[in-house]
Amino acid sequence: MKHYLQTGLAGLLTLFVLTNVNASQDHSKTPQSGSDQNLKLKQALGRKLYFDTGLSEPAGQACAGCHLPSTGFADPDSELPVSRGADPAHFGNRNTPTTAYAAFTPEFHYDKKEGLYIGGFFLDGRAHTMQDQAKGPFLNPLEMGNPDAASLINKVRQAKYSSMFDQVFGPGALSDVQQAFDYVADALVAFEHSNDFSPFNAKYDYYLEGEVQLTAAEQRGLELFEDEKKGNCAACHPSQKKTDGSHPLFTDYSYDNIGVPRLKDSPFYYIEKTFNPAGDQYIDLGLGRVLNQPAENGKFKVPTLRNLTKTAPYMHNGVFKTLEEVVDFYNSRDSTEKNFKPEVVENMNDEELGDLNLSKQEEQDIIAFLKTLTDGYILP
Ligand code: HEC
Ligand code: HEC
Repeated sequence: MKHYLQTGLAGLLTLFVLTNVNASQDHSKTPQSGSDQNLKLKQALGRKLYFDTGLSEPAGQACAGCHLPSTGFADPDSELPVSRGADPAHFGNRNTPTTAYAAFTPEFHYDKKEGLYIGGFFLDGRAHTMQDQAKGPFLNPLEMGNPDAASLINKVRQAKYSSMFDQVFGPGALSDVQQAFDYVADALVAFEHSNDFSPFNAKYDYYLEGEVQLTAAEQRGLELFEDEKKGNCAACHPSQKKTDGSHPLFTDYSYDNIGVPRLKDSPFYYIEKTFNPAGDQYIDLGLGRVLNQPAENGKFKVPTLRNLTKTAPYMHNGVFKTLEEVVDFYNSRDSTEKNFKPEVVENMNDEELGDLNLSKQEEQDIIAFLKTLTDGYILP
């Protein structure tokens, strides 16, 4: 088990901040308040907050520590299935998802027509909006560890950039703790809506614009990905341009129990009993626990598949280390030889996956396609 050095990370963060000073642009869904200039300033403030390692207790952990731009806005430590907290003895229960493209997530709601829960933040949708989400990590004892909002806001008041709050939100912006906490979340959300998080410049994006061709293997992979009788991946991870011409996000934001196996060993199993009374018997019920509805047990939000090559490990519990393991799982979950035992048996989807009958070559082709979804592609 390896864990990254805080100093090395701080270096990486500085580099990112310096090379991206002009990169902030607004996305259509940014919460609007005031002029363009104000939005730019708000995003700049959000960037400061996102990279500030002084806002945790003990100090040392920023949002970016678990959602690092250079590793697809996911945890740079791909050896750990879950993430370590600011207190090094603490570990969360879930694999850190990417924050890239998260700004497009709709608010949590029940879609009556589809009969499905859609959207929301965290893998179980427990934060209905991105604003709610942004407040979570600061006070989570297993993440940034502040005991309450007041202790966070004290840290913010002492930060070098604290005067930016008055510029963005008006004089006295940090005087009331709850109001200030809302502003912190607003600024973070504005930054998370900037193009830094959603550049849409993967090879597949250029392909959709007719600017580059896929290789034969990538093309076969795309067809398998979309073919309902083959991979059927696009049923939950849509891959086509939307009707408004915008590029796909590879999630329909629904929730499903695809039968992901239980993680045999996780540092989370061994943390203090107050945080995990079940110890190594811990089972993650996902959406079902949040809603207290057994019919939703074992369901997790469909994640985006963008930047997968940088975001290993995979699934809510980080049980798979490679894309080979993931695709093999979809292909042969139901094979008795493989013995993939689901973490939650109830509500498991046995219609759309699990027994795909793909050849080894077809599995490889799908992986070749998935690798075209990494941002930062340079046209030949
Ligand atoms: C210790 C690691 C860690 C830190 C620090 C951290 N996160 Fe996260 N983040 C996670 C994990 C793990 C999840 C998924 C948790 C869950 O589903 O319960 C997550 C989920 C998210 C999501 C939801 C993504 C989605 O698709 O639903 C967003 C957005 C996010 N974090 C932003 C932030 C912001 C902003 C900060 C700083 C205020 C932050 N994170 C700090 C680990 C971390
Ligand atoms: C029925 C809906 C559904 C179908 C069909 C489906 N997926 Fe998924 N996919 C999900 C859900 C839900 C998750 C998250 C599950 C979890 O964490 O427990 C997921 C997770 C993943 C992940 C992990 C991403 C990450 O960041 O951890 C990959 C990779 C993936 N799917 C690829 C595929 C491929 C390739 C196919 C086709 C062979 C496919 N999916 C078909 C719903 C689906």
